[in-house]
Order: sequence, then structure tokens, then C-alpha cells
Amino acid sequence: MKLPKISFSIIATLTLAAAVIDALNGCSSSQPDDSQIAAAQAATAITRTTNHSTTIYLVTTGSATGSGPRSAASPPPSDSLQALVDDAYAKFKDDQSGTNADYIPYLASVPSELFGIAVVTVDGKIFTAGDTGYTFSLQSCSKVFTLAEIIEESGEEEVLKKIGVEPTGMAFNSITALGLHDNQAINPLVNAGAIASVSMVKAGSADERWNKILAFESSFAGEPLKLIDEVYRSESDTNFRNQGIAFILYNGQHLFCNPLEACDAYTKQCSIGVTARQLAIMGATLANGGVNPITQQRCLTARHVPRVLAVMMMAGFYDESGQWAYTAGIPAKTGVGGGIVAVVPGRMAIVAFSPRLNAAGNSIRATEAINHIVRQLDLNLFGSVQ
Ligand code: DON
Repeated sequence: MKLPKISFSIIATLTLAAAVIDALNGCSSSQPDDSQIAAAQAATAITRTTNHSTTIYLVTTGSATGSGPRSAASPPPSDSLQALVDDAYAKFKDDQSGTNADYIPYLASVPSELFGIAVVTVDGKIFTAGDTGYTFSLQSCSKVFTLAEIIEESGEEEVLKKIGVEPTGMAFNSITALGLHDNQAINPLVNAGAIASVSMVKAGSADERWNKILAFESSFAGEPLKLIDEVYRSESDTNFRNQGIAFILYNGQHLFCNPLEACDAYTKQCSIGVTARQLAIMGATLANGGVNPITQQRCLTARHVPRVLAVMMMAGFYDESGQWAYTAGIPAKTGVGGGIVAVVPGRMAIVAFSPRLNAAGNSIRATEAINHIVRQLDLNLFGSVQ
């Protein structure tokens, strides 16, 4: 897919910047001189993106105060983005590899054919294809937002000390990983660390803990999210391994409330229902420096956002996190419900949902679709791989 040669001026009054960008893009016959470029750069950020054979210069508003995202570039034009989302959907729609998770009985009954892709940009534009209105369970994607909650509430240092941020390199429900680290979870995105995370939420009762978690996750979606009761019951009836993990953490003094209360609140957060569209808004809130791009509500202090994204980058795909970083190069989080939320800081969130998983518990078509969009738009944070 080729993107047109374009120039953007986000603030219309920045005519000087626009003139410089026009010249850089070759839209103007006159070349900008050094003083024009310096003046434009003082007010804006200029970014060069090379997409296939086309070079695009983009101008965005600067963020010297740190209150907004460290923006790299604006999203591509709406037509191109919708066409790309449609293209990703068509390309992977017929891939039937993998199987639904079945250790949570409800998940085995979710129609395997479901497939949806949603992109939400930091300026609130939404692009969708496929089954983006179907409500599925957040599962491990919920861990990201509860991590954000405890960083917001207790601070970055406290989370580092009480849980840790190292990738385990092991399966999401590994007990071996606990054993290797003196029964400390070491990462908030594996089950043990996520159970420890919910136990860090400051609450005087089980109800208060759950209500705080649900409200925090909902703020990222910009609307009240609800528990899928059938998922919660199915998982509660079978979550003996997670209960065991909670007791191991508690025994090692690495859990900060009653173990069964922690496990139950964790099970509930995994059972929160979202559509791909809602999850993309949640991700776009992280992409937008902690401000929900639809409601404009600040959900997370801007300086906490990079911490959350760093943990996603290192551990969002569990024992496939290295492979994900190697291929896509953007932070993302998967869930056994089939959802994956990926974040391009300062630009957009890309979400895909498809219930069939690989052996690591990551959705196959969702991984493929997001990877495709990342490649086509050259979004790898580490540099161009074109
Ligand atoms: O605790 C569990 O096993 C599930 N509620 C969540 C696991 C999960 O989503 C792993 N992700 N890919």
C-alpha cells in the first residue's frame, strides 16, 4: 500500500511551519532556509517517515512539558488507514490455525470464526473491520490497566519493589517462575504478578477493591464496562492453579491482601467484557499519554505511561515477547479471550480479536493482523524495517 506524498499542519496558524514542511515535501518551489527550519522546529516537531518508496514529512505539535505523548508523527490519512484495516481483515480472515482456550470452559464455546480489527488514533478517529461489536473477555489484557492503576496509586518505585518488572520468559501461569524468584511474581503481566497487582489496590473491602478496578478499567474505555457473568463463573469454578499461586505469594509475603480475595478480584477483572472497539479506545488512551481520546478524560498521569508500555514491551506476549519485539517492535498485550491490544505511542492503538490461540496462549490471527498493519505503516518503534 502506497501512501501519498503529503504535508500536515495541525495548527493552522503555524503557517511558517507549514511553509517549511511544504518545501521539505517538495510541494513548494522555494527551499526553507536555516532560520525558517529553526523557527518551525521551535514550535513543532518535524518527522520524516519513509513508507515503501514514499517519503512523508509530518509536522506535529510539540510536547515540551511532558504532559502529552512523545509524539513521533500523526496518523496517516483516514482513507489509507481504513483501507489497511480492511486489507488486514481480508488477508487473515481464512486462517483457521490454532484453537480456542479451553481450560476456562466458557472460552471453548466462543465461536472460533469471530475476527475483528479496530484502530483508534490519538485524535479519536476509529477504523474497524469484522466482528468489532462482539463482547469478549479482557482476560490478560486487563492486567495492563490494573498495573497502571497501582502505579498511579502507589508510585513506580513501590510497584518495582513489591512486584518487579522483569520478564519471566515462561508461561503466563508458571509456578516454576515463582520458585526461581523466591516466590515473588517479578512481573505484573503474568498471572502471579497480576494477582499481586490487584492485592496492591488500596481497598478496605473486597467490594471496594473490585469496584475500583472496574471503574479504572472503564475510564480507559470511556464508558462503564461490565463483568461477563458466565465467564466469571466458569473461571471461578476452575481457577485452582491461580488460587495456588495466590497462596504461594501470600506465604512468601508477596501478596498484600487475603489470597482468596486477590484471586477473586483478579478473576473478575479477567472476566470484564469488551468489544475490540472499546479495547482499542483503552489502548489509544495509553497511546495518547494517558488521556482518553474520545472523552478527553485523563486516566493516567503522563509520566506513568512509559512505565506501563515498557512492561508491555518486555512481557506482553509471555514467552513469545522477544519474538514479538523482534517482528513488530511495539508494546502489546494478549489475552486468552483472543484479544490483543497494541500501542503506538503518540499515534494509535491497534486491536485485533480472534479466539484461536497458539501454544503460548496468544491469538494467531490477531497477532498476524496487527503485525501486518505495523509493517505496512512502518510503525516499529526501533526504526524502519522496510
Ligand atoms: O488467569 C488466567 O489464566 C486467565 N484469566 C488469563 C490468562 C491470559 O489471558 C493469558 N494470556 N494470553
